[in-house]
Amino acid sequence: MSPRHDRGFDLAGRLREREERDLRRDLAPVDRVAGRARTAADPRGEEPVFGEAALVFAANNYLGLAGDERVADAAARAAHEIGTGAGASRLIVGDTPAHRSLERALAAEKSTERALAFSSGYAANAGTITALDPDVVFSDRLNHASIIDGVRLSGADVEVYDHCDPDALREAMAERDRTVEGESWLVVTDSVFSMDGTVAPLAALCAVTEEYGAWLMVDDAHATAVHEGGIVGERGLADRVDIQLGTLSKALGAQGGFVAGSETLVEHLLNTARSFVFSTGLAPPAAAAAERALELAPERRDQLRANTERLRAGLETAGYEVWGESHILPVLVGDREDALALDEQLREAGVVAPAIRPPTVPEGTSRIRLAPQATHTSAEIDRVVSAFEMAGERVGLL
Ligand SMILES: Cc1ncc(COP(=O)(O)O)c(C=O)c1O
Repeated sequence: MSPRHDRGFDLAGRLREREERDLRRDLAPVDRVAGRARTAADPRGEEPVFGEAALVFAANNYLGLAGDERVADAAARAAHEIGTGAGASRLIVGDTPAHRSLERALAAEKSTERALAFSSGYAANAGTITALDPDVVFSDRLNHASIIDGVRLSGADVEVYDHCDPDALREAMAERDRTVEGESWLVVTDSVFSMDGTVAPLAALCAVTEEYGAWLMVDDAHATAVHEGGIVGERGLADRVDIQLGTLSKALGAQGGFVAGSETLVEHLLNTARSFVFSTGLAPPAAAAAERALELAPERRDQLRANTERLRAGLETAGYEVWGESHILPVLVGDREDALALDEQLREAGVVAPAIRPPTVPEGTSRIRLAPQATHTSAEIDRVVSAFEMAGERVGLL
């Protein structure tokens, strides 16, 4: 008997609508996680067909450690000795020596009493904010989606303040302070912003947060291991930031996320953060890989800094406007079609660097987001600059 109503989901229609609005995404396979990789068009359900090797300037594998033999050995050892997966939530029987050892190393790196590993940075943000259960969250306008989702899940009132603007934060706090009393307040910010390459003014944010007796949570995902102790540590702010969040999936070349802070914070989270309690523990090979990568990170930092400076200088000399003040280099294009054309030309020249368009970024600020890696050579950086020169002329940007 056929039903009287169709109560299903018109997914083909929704996909069509995305396509019409130019929002449909495809996967983009690579044959390995490295600064040079072969790429393929999205094969949907079929096997990818990889083409020529290209220079990858789009990954968050900033220190190139995802392809380091020593990191791979640590992962392999943990897989053999402990297991390929944790097998259960950490609270049941999924809490292994690989987790404990990683957490001690992360707490030392972040100068905190304890750290707690989650299965992703996304899970760490979502779980931590909901477990804190704040009345109000003050959130930077450009914070990462996992923070935004955590705030939504928590049901807190949200006050969005202007990007990297401590005065705007103070104003929002003063206004709330006049109207409501006795609330718990959480200020949350990325340290390095992934699409703009900007760095939050953390000391000033600490000062405003302290003035109002709130807590500050910093998502140091893009700076973990790139800077000693992250941006928080490098600026000597570890004892003024209540919650330091990070990911194992970017510069540490593994997978997972973590929170570092006080003993009480970690005990509270492991009891109440639902993405920790009701999710299988981080895979032991990922934990062991991240710990080994953390040991190796210092030997790669100077090279990443040098590569970043060389790339920024080359692009600026070529006539491009490069934003930000970190190892993430957004190259401003403006028009979305131009950004797509540039992306296409770069790809033809053997450089993978994605166009970032609205709605991810505001209209008129489409850009190419470049992420150099410590393992790129100077010749490879120069090849990217040449590709930008050639592509920019073809698209009519230079
Ligand atoms: C600022 C920020 N926080 C959190 C995450 C999520 O981390 P993960 O990829 O480990 O889930 C990301 C990246 O995806 C990020 O850019």
